[in-house]
Amino acid sequence: MRRPLLAGNWKMHYGVSEGVALVEALSADLTDLTDRDVLVCPPFTLLGSLAPLLDGTAVALGAQNMHYETKGAFTGEIAPNMLKELGCSYVILGHSERRQYFGETDELINRKAHAALANGLKPIVCVGEVKAERDSGQAESVVVGQLRGSLAGLSAEQLRSVVIAYEPVWAIGTGDTATPADAQAIHARIRAELAALSDQATADAIIIQYGGSVKPDNVDELMAQPDIDGALVGGASLKAADFIRIVRFK
Ligand code: PGA
Repeated sequence: MRRPLLAGNWKMHYGVSEGVALVEALSADLTDLTDRDVLVCPPFTLLGSLAPLLDGTAVALGAQNMHYETKGAFTGEIAPNMLKELGCSYVILGHSERRQYFGETDELINRKAHAALANGLKPIVCVGEVKAERDSGQAESVVVGQLRGSLAGLSAEQLRSVVIAYEPVWAIGTGDTATPADAQAIHARIRAELAALSDQATADAIIIQYGGSVKPDNVDELMAQPDIDGALVGGASLKAADFIRIVRFK
């Protein structure tokens, strides 16, 4: 029913030549996919070079952030319509690194989510608890609060174009992953909250990705969980062979 979405978040890695080599390797291999979607989210500076290479392939293009206005005096920012014009179909919003290092709040992420949808981009809205919150038993309440804030005011129809990425912050880039059972428990809670924000049929249609040290050797058991519908992959998305193996989860 839900089509898995495997996404690579390249973060602040790679110039044009390395990016071109990576997407050429991915698009040459991933020609036979019928039951899953693939996405790469390179730095802004590569989008214009990579878009024509990905056109007509199975690999979609997305960005890692955006501003919520479509134009104006916002030095250094990129507008949603600019991303759309370059061929992006998705945009990652509220990644924990944006929340942690750039002060992004649920309210800001919510403005961005509305703007992304208004400009024909599918937002990948990131949520996740930090280690101290997990250790004190607050993981679910933190994630639910982030969902309510980030998704405020979106209609059920709009929510069907939203992807949620659950990324426990302590698992990002550390080699520590949530156990499949722990991740499933939060994913089920997220889906229940999505149903409360809309209705069960809408919640059942929404892709909920897991992120945080997803690798070739743990992707299969994560993807076997009923409410894990994809992965948002950082480090392992930078190597063609690793990302291809993740996309080809069994
Ligand atoms: P990681 O990053 O796979 O390197 O842990 C995931 C992410 O931050 O999206």
